[in-house]
Amino acid sequence: MTATLSPATTAVLSLTGVSKRFGAVQALKDIDFDVHAGEVVALVGDNGAGKSTLVKTIAGVYTPDGGTMLFDGKEASVSSPAEAQHLGIATVFQDLALCDNLDVVANLFLGRELYTGRALDEVTMEQESWRLLRQLSAKIPSVRIPVASLSGGQRQTVAIARSLLGAPKVVMLDEPTAALGVAQTAEVLNLVERLRENGLGVILISHNMSDVMAVADRVSVLRLGRNNGTFAVSQTTSQEIIAAITGATTNAVSKRAARRESTDGDTAPAAQAPDTRSDASASTQEEQS
Ligand SMILES: Nc1ncnc2c1ncn2[C@@H]1O[C@H](COP(=O)(O)OP(=O)(O)OP(=O)(O)O)[C@@H](O)[C@H]1O
Ligand SMILES: [Mg+2]
Repeated sequence: MTATLSPATTAVLSLTGVSKRFGAVQALKDIDFDVHAGEVVALVGDNGAGKSTLVKTIAGVYTPDGGTMLFDGKEASVSSPAEAQHLGIATVFQDLALCDNLDVVANLFLGRELYTGRALDEVTMEQESWRLLRQLSAKIPSVRIPVASLSGGQRQTVAIARSLLGAPKVVMLDEPTAALGVAQTAEVLNLVERLRENGLGVILISHNMSDVMAVADRVSVLRLGRNNGTFAVSQTTSQEIIAAITGATTNAVSKRAARRESTDGDTAPAAQAPDTRSDASASTQEEQS
């Protein structure tokens, strides 16, 4: 794991002083954020902390009011998702945006179909699909079945594979395990590790502390639209992260996490973030680990 707080290499993506306001709401204020090649950075924070706004700003959905963004060391301004993709920033949004009635190949190449002459080049697209899925060590039985018949984890896999088509350097995943059970969550976390092994910078939004502690190298906390700490996972506890998320060390959530950590000994703690959307998988996983 590359778990130092500031890795020596140049960040593949680096934001400085990024702000974004929606009318009266200051959604982001002076945000500094970076991710390196071969690194997983978890972006955490309570509801409304600004996580999605930050991701959408990086993805070119929103234009920031101020601040700079460096990509590969060069200043970049992205004014559309297509531009971000072209630059090498891929995003898997929470809704995945898959077409249920189409098969895996058609979903992977949706809008970017390959042709031989005027006919679709099905053979090359299918080969390329398998190549992408192998790269992720993904367990998909067939690429010629409709996406509707796949499990939640497999659908997430297809969405992640699709994001890799343009050979990006940074992949952002918005809550990739939120709707998944224990086994499927583990599968998706494996995919995240594959992405890191392939040298990508991965930005992982998650409300699930056990997922974060399991795969992230660093954790960046947003609170009320501002930076509220960056932690190397190897040198922190979920209690410390929760304290940064909630802005206090003495609230009910962090006290509960502290109690659990002291009874668990010094094994990797797995408390849940203070979020009603978190499901039971966090505690179930903890019991299994
Ligand atoms: N398009 C928008 N127009 C107006 N306000 C917005 C818009 N998008 C986000 N906001 C506001 O900006 C703040 C940050 O929202 P954001 O969605 O980034 O939070 P989040 O950290 O992703 O929260 P959650 O965990 O609930 O997804 C919130 O106060 C939200 O209401
Ligand atoms: Mg959000």
